[in-house]
Amino acid sequence: MSELAVLGGQPVRTEPYPDWPVFDERDIAAVTEVVKSGQWGGSPYPGPQTAEFLRRFLELQGGEYAVTVANGTITMEVACRVAGIGWGDEVIVPAYTFQATAAAPLVVGAIPVIADIDPDTYCIDPRAVEAAITDKTRAILPVHLGAQMADMDAIMDIAERNSLIVIEDSAHAHGAKWRGQGAGTFGDFGSFSLQASKILTAGEGGVLICKTAELAERVVSLIDCGRPLGGEGGQVINLGGNYRMTELQAALAKVATERFPAQAKQRAAMADYMDEELIDIPGVRILKRDPRHTTRSFYLYILAIDPEVFGAENKAVCTALLAEGIPCLTGYPAMHHYDLFQPLLSRLPVPSAFPERFRFDEMHFPEAERACEREAVWLSEQVFRAGKQGIDDAVAALRKIYDHRAELAALR
Ligand SMILES: Cc1ncc(COP(=O)(O)O)c(C=O)c1O
Repeated sequence: MSELAVLGGQPVRTEPYPDWPVFDERDIAAVTEVVKSGQWGGSPYPGPQTAEFLRRFLELQGGEYAVTVANGTITMEVACRVAGIGWGDEVIVPAYTFQATAAAPLVVGAIPVIADIDPDTYCIDPRAVEAAITDKTRAILPVHLGAQMADMDAIMDIAERNSLIVIEDSAHAHGAKWRGQGAGTFGDFGSFSLQASKILTAGEGGVLICKTAELAERVVSLIDCGRPLGGEGGQVINLGGNYRMTELQAALAKVATERFPAQAKQRAAMADYMDEELIDIPGVRILKRDPRHTTRSFYLYILAIDPEVFGAENKAVCTALLAEGIPCLTGYPAMHHYDLFQPLLSRLPVPSAFPERFRFDEMHFPEAERACEREAVWLSEQVFRAGKQGIDDAVAALRKIYDHRAELAALR
């Protein structure tokens, strides 16, 4: 019998990693307070919990204006609408991200134009952005993936030279900083998710940081059924929807901001330790640490395995790691491989109107394909909240898999 747990051997770790989300009496008290107040929903906007949460969030992230929204998908859709992005406009998105990043422009009638990623960071490659610009391009939608940040110097430079809007998908980047400035505060909009797995969570929810008070006011109107900010119930000035986050969620998010700094510090310290420990394992590559990325924040720790060295791709390595007791996954498919965006499956009008821009089966994004299908292993943030032992176990499991790599072929 093999020593690999996936083939019947003893796992490296049997103790579960700590659960997420973390909660204590403060959450229960905050929710109870909202329940007793009778103001449970998100209207009138902003309620007291929302206002206090946003004050704390901006203190943590930077930026001056922010709006709570139902989730980190609608945030980007609303940002597109407020920016006036619509029918036939082009929005450049990375080839490696959650579908929401491309779905947002698509549902407002715009064409998501895919740009390949930088293999060193797995974030959008500014050179690919530049090459994708046409006279229809209106916006760039970079994603700060895992614990990395897109090169915001290069992206903002391209945006300024070409008069483009920037919407930063910062769903993974609470607390992350570039040259000391918070993710989501460079562009016109910064979109954050508070969904259950995220490192600052209210179960569901989102925040949209806006460059100006005027943009924020328009966002509030769109998420509050088209009402003007502070307007009367029946008064409507925009085609909006009910995309509000509730006071109950804001109360949970508010308490989460109290724990966030210590949790983020702990994850970052453990990730530094992990970087050092992984260096010695052949065929494991840690992603680039750009010195301009001054504060790293870990939603995921993404590493790259070399399939030539391991004799297996990321999927097999992940299966083996999971069996060793290490929570991990291979993550998203490359954007052009999501079924959602295949023209024949989509009933949205944009792919039918612009079929030449949706021939995804003819597109190739070699760096994203390599990352998604061969290299990327995502380690869950839980691994970074279990002390040094948590890291030692993950490293030992990877080393064990490397040592027994010949047996991985059996997993194919
Ligand atoms: C990169 C990215 N963008 C956007 C979202 C969407 O966030 P939500 O689930 O809050 O809609 C996610 C969610 O996982 C994400 O990972």
